[in-house]
Amino acid sequence: MSEILTIADLKDLARRRVPKMFFDYADSGAWTESTYRANEEDFGKIKFRQRVLVDMSNRSLESTMIGQNVAMPVALAPTGLTGMQHADGEMLAAQAAEEFGVPFTLSTMSICSIEDVASVTKKPFWFQLYVLRDKDFVLDLIDRAKAAKCSALVLTLDLQILGQRHKDIRNGLSAPPKMTLANIIDLALKPRWCLGIAGTSRRTFRNIVGHAKGVGDVSSLSSWTTEQFDPQLSWKDVAWIKERWGGKLILKGILDKEDALMAAQTGADAIVVSNHGGRQLDGAASSISVLEEIADAVGDRIEVHMDGGIRSGQDVLKALCLGAKGTYIGRPFLYGLGAMGKDGVTKALEIIRKEMDITLALCGKRLVTDMGKDQLRR
Ligand SMILES: Cc1cc2nc3c(=O)[nH]c(=O)nc-3n(C[C@H](O)[C@H](O)[C@H](O)COP(=O)(O)O)c2cc1C
Repeated sequence: MSEILTIADLKDLARRRVPKMFFDYADSGAWTESTYRANEEDFGKIKFRQRVLVDMSNRSLESTMIGQNVAMPVALAPTGLTGMQHADGEMLAAQAAEEFGVPFTLSTMSICSIEDVASVTKKPFWFQLYVLRDKDFVLDLIDRAKAAKCSALVLTLDLQILGQRHKDIRNGLSAPPKMTLANIIDLALKPRWCLGIAGTSRRTFRNIVGHAKGVGDVSSLSSWTTEQFDPQLSWKDVAWIKERWGGKLILKGILDKEDALMAAQTGADAIVVSNHGGRQLDGAASSISVLEEIADAVGDRIEVHMDGGIRSGQDVLKALCLGAKGTYIGRPFLYGLGAMGKDGVTKALEIIRKEMDITLALCGKRLVTDMGKDQLRR
């Protein structure tokens, strides 16, 4: 391939290097994938105002998210099985984010554990919590995140029941992959990936195996996880989680202004306007299309972040204009990771940074923190 210039270039390369079941796991949404597509498409409907003859020197993308300094307001979203896009994926992505100066969020459903990531990073990362039925395990996860000095807990609210993703069923998704004929043929075409995975001991859900009761090996794991998400999770639970955690709390998966107003009452530090990357409620609105309404509803009662469909720096700026203080990228960094490991994650961040910087200037602004509704054509 010629030079990598866009997130789409990284996606093409990842498609060639990552086993089909894991590439598809990233590149999929629930059912018809309509919300997954809408997340990206709706950014295209938003237009900037082009401004000229304004001083565009000394530009800065620096900002803060939940009071923490960020080189640009773009965090890495929590994504499960990241260590299957590339060997030791979570550790590499966390290092890339740390060096770049943006937050990395480790998923509960990661391959590398909280302790693995802490062992290769110097600055605090964020930890994403799924609330499972086994409350002792949840309490233990919170305590482990505290012990690892994580600087925020991201509580995911929109996956107490799993939206169906057809590709995962058809591919027989598992970590590590089962040695079926189709998988053996596919893996034979992905030698770089195989070599990486052969060289690491991190091949299953290391936050869970050895920590949760009744999960001693991988074979019991898949049934355990699907049964474990607690369908009775309620707003009351946010209170005890907040109390146990005692640090910065981010509520992820808000898509409705009534829920956003409830979230603001919990005393949490931020919400993430998100539909889980179109992987849960197919037919839900795109995140960007509801962002402004939600941001306006909560005002300054709680910080507003968003994710879903960001594929460029322009998309980040549009989200900031519509009221987000920060954004997250999921697939863009996963494609970078699958394509080129840690360098690919850095590349994804660099692509977005460059696009943001030049777009900011062409909008006639020098500070990313100055982007607001009046930079959009309406
Ligand atoms: C492969 C994959 C795995 C994900 N796993 C998790 C997860 O474990 N926890 C979570 O809160 N969100 C998870 N998400 C959702 C992301 O955190 C984020 O909301 C979404 O990816 C944003 O959309 P984008 O991929 O278009 O940037 C996952 C998303 C993807 C693509």
